[in-house]
Amino acid sequence: MQDRFGRTIDYIRISVTDRCNLRCVYCMPENGIELCKCEEVLRYEEVIRLCRIFAKLGTKKIKITGGEALVRKDALNLIRVIKGIDGIEQVTLTTNGILLGDYIDELAQIGIDGINISIDSLNREEFKKITRVGDVDKVKASLAKALRYPQLKLKINCVPCDGDKQDLLELVALAQDNAVHVRFIEMMPIGEGKNFKFLSEDSIKAMIEERYGRLEPYDAKLGNGPSHYFSLSGFQGKIGFISAISHKFCHECNRIRLTCTGYLKTCLQYDIGVDLRERIRSGASDAMLEEAIAAAVLAKPMEHSFLQKNIVSEEQGKMAAIGG
Ligand code: 5AD
Ligand code: SF4
Repeated sequence: MQDRFGRTIDYIRISVTDRCNLRCVYCMPENGIELCKCEEVLRYEEVIRLCRIFAKLGTKKIKITGGEALVRKDALNLIRVIKGIDGIEQVTLTTNGILLGDYIDELAQIGIDGINISIDSLNREEFKKITRVGDVDKVKASLAKALRYPQLKLKINCVPCDGDKQDLLELVALAQDNAVHVRFIEMMPIGEGKNFKFLSEDSIKAMIEERYGRLEPYDAKLGNGPSHYFSLSGFQGKIGFISAISHKFCHECNRIRLTCTGYLKTCLQYDIGVDLRERIRSGASDAMLEEAIAAAVLAKPMEHSFLQKNIVSEEQGKMAAIGG
């Protein structure tokens, strides 16, 4: 699919649930979010139907996300079916890693192409502080298990949110000893994220270079997204940055998002898109859905304006229903 700015949209992120077994401070309020009602959430057969249509329209890569995707029953079966859809070249998963250890063998067997594990700190107390309830040892054990599958592309995602208390350099060290890429994501002012300042790419780079030496720009693409990477001498993995604020990448955006309630969001910042659940449940044919999707993609906004105040149509929703 092409949008009106000539961007090719061949990647979709699908949130399968807004539920999560963690409560990260920049994502959820302490007592959790008001969850979507069960009947509002797309059933798997609805997700699969849409995936077939997305594939027909030229989607090649699908990311399954949440909340925490692995807390939804039978998420692996969904992944298995989506993996088998004609035209879909890559299916990947984003997870907080808590339950990943239980499922990694089956995920590898299904042939999942890549897994992103969100880890904001490797320190037990700091991890608990950021996630409010999480046990980092579980995540570390999951990572160790995942590393047994060299065919799996593994990435660690960290959203700096706690100033100099967060041990970012320890996370960087993961890429020294293991075949994983470690990426730092600038906090985006969405939902609870509005209460946080982002730590800029340049300041993280300075810290890394002071400890580990020069970050050499690495030009090849390592994934489907907006991350850009650097090499460190002696490191197995690369260091990546997703800097939506300081290095805006909207001009090369290739993605759309499907929320767990079936809203097709064409830009992270706005609630511009189309309610596909409503259309499916009122009996729309595949052709009608195709048309609605193509029209929404055509109207995809040119860019975010996170630094601007009082935006019209600004997303008021919660990151957990959108899926990052
Ligand atoms: N800004 C940037 N990243 C965020 N995530 C959740 N909320 C935000 C935000 N406001 C990240 C999670 C996870 C990914 C799915 O999205 O930490 O890594
Ligand atoms: Fe859960 Fe991810 Fe939100 Fe943390 S950021 S509470 S892991 S959905």
